[in-house]
Amino acid sequence: MADIIDGKAHAAGLRAHLARRVAQLHADAGFVPGLAVVLVGEDPASQVYVRNKAAQTRECGMQSIEHRLPASTTQDELLALVATLNADPEVDGILVQLPVPAHIDPERVLLAIDPAKDVDGFHPLNAGLLATGGSGLVPCTPLGSLMLLKDRLGSLAGLHAVVVGRSNIVGKPMAQLLLREDCTVSVVHSRTREPAALCRQADIVVAAVGRPRMIGPDWVKPGATVIDVGINRIALDDGRTKLVGDVDFDAVAALAGAITPVPGGVGPMTIACLLHNTLTAACRRRGVELPD
Ligand code: GUN
Repeated sequence: MADIIDGKAHAAGLRAHLARRVAQLHADAGFVPGLAVVLVGEDPASQVYVRNKAAQTRECGMQSIEHRLPASTTQDELLALVATLNADPEVDGILVQLPVPAHIDPERVLLAIDPAKDVDGFHPLNAGLLATGGSGLVPCTPLGSLMLLKDRLGSLAGLHAVVVGRSNIVGKPMAQLLLREDCTVSVVHSRTREPAALCRQADIVVAAVGRPRMIGPDWVKPGATVIDVGINRIALDDGRTKLVGDVDFDAVAALAGAITPVPGGVGPMTIACLLHNTLTAACRRRGVELPD
């Protein structure tokens, strides 16, 4: 039976460490990092995420600045708010919660965010810096997944990592991060031939496809480390719903070396890394060294 990687506990430890550093910065440099979160519309899942982000921001001692806009907000109005936040010296990080309503082009919005405040790491400049070895801001879910992998495995150099999924938000930046750690990286996607056979060669599997329980035991080498990024809500026979990952947890846990559960694996790490990025952005913007 695989070891279960406790993302919830790891995220709590990371947040406690962040809180200590935020307090030290306040004492030494006299400022409090500020994170602005913008939610357009009333998507229920987004409302829960935004509430959690705001609460955890405050718990870490940082300032949470929330902007809740109606679904009827125009693209120009949203761009004007982003411009205001870009110019606000108290705002170190800006996050526009996705998805935005259909009449707004998310690419336009992400491009408008000052890359130095882009704590999601979604701006093409930050994506380019990640690909070319620079130090920009790194997307939170891949960053959190990498922290769990390094905590478990130490050096990742020379390991074969297979990333299942090629989204701009997770799959592509995850592959870049693993490459930066000297892994040999394969990216499996919908057009890959024999994906299970390829995945079965991997020392590390990162599943980020958004398909419930797609990765079965025939995809995983015995002893491999499995990171499940998927969060899928499925209907049960009795009418209730349940959150499951992209990995068939029970079957894969029987042979993997270690695996993240859903919920309680990568999910909590994402918000903790958002706060980590906010602290990093604040120190860089303000020309202050990041405390240990
Ligand atoms: N919606 C779901 N996850 C995310 C995220 O990490 N960032 C943003 N901006 N929106 C999201």
